[in-house]
Amino acid sequence: MKASAPGKIILFGEHAVVYNRPALAVPVTQVHVDVEVSDSSRRGGFINASGIDLYAELNSLPADHPIASVILKLFSALGISQIPDIEINITSTIPVASGLGSGAAVSVALIRALSSFLFHPIPDDEVNLLVYEIEKLHHGTPSGIDNTVITYNKPVYFIKGQPIETFTVGKPFTIVIGDTGIPAPTKESVGDVRLLWLKDKTRFEEIFDLIGQTSLIARRSIESGQPELLGELMDQNHALLQQLTVSSPELDKLIDAARKAGALGAKLSGGGRGGNMIALAEQAKAESVASALISAGARQTIITEIS
Ligand code: MEV
Repeated sequence: MKASAPGKIILFGEHAVVYNRPALAVPVTQVHVDVEVSDSSRRGGFINASGIDLYAELNSLPADHPIASVILKLFSALGISQIPDIEINITSTIPVASGLGSGAAVSVALIRALSSFLFHPIPDDEVNLLVYEIEKLHHGTPSGIDNTVITYNKPVYFIKGQPIETFTVGKPFTIVIGDTGIPAPTKESVGDVRLLWLKDKTRFEEIFDLIGQTSLIARRSIESGQPELLGELMDQNHALLQQLTVSSPELDKLIDAARKAGALGAKLSGGGRGGNMIALAEQAKAESVASALISAGARQTIITEIS
């Protein structure tokens, strides 16, 4: 039984979304996690995740291991007390800790493949809730945006705790994604922002409000077919993320290089401190923006059309 899940990028609103402000995110299908579950001649469960050098008996992993915790949570949701004789193969093209949602994508694909293999396929709403529970185990105070956009594989306008809203794209636009190659766990940047917010709630609430407004205006621009307006909004959003201290010299260098190569605007995407940045580019300029990112030190680039 096979299942896969895409990566994601946050277009606007990361971090502020943890504090109930709106954010916009879209799936990125060029990168994905693929999971295959099959019968095994060995007793118990065996996991093979070559990308993270994991070849292990499920029993030998600590219960809070990111992959074991997904499987155990699913077994408990399905009332399964004895580990079946199975082999689980996990492959991924989503870089780990890069802001592209690799953790949530592993959880979504694993739950789908395993639940179908065990004859208990789970509807999306339940997959989403389960993955959110797992995100909470590993990320402290996640907003839930990653599991939502990855489970439903649709653009989302997300406000924590509110019903899921998707948005329409009035006119397609091109985003270039650049990876700093620096792994940066979201838990750390989210935790640091929380400490800053606790020290000066008035100032940080104001920054979150301004970020939330960029998400709202960006949604209107996308829906009304004026994506060119997103460039300036991205620049504004990035400046606000810098005030939250979640950018880094490497991210700023890539963002600067994208703008110099003709991008209409650029910002970090995801937790920040490393991971990925995104730039809005006219389709004809996307390749040259991507080359400028590589020259400025990007490990990898992806050009994606939002439509
Ligand atoms: C991570 O992709 C986005 C953050 O806003 C964290 C979250 O929403 O849980 C940084």
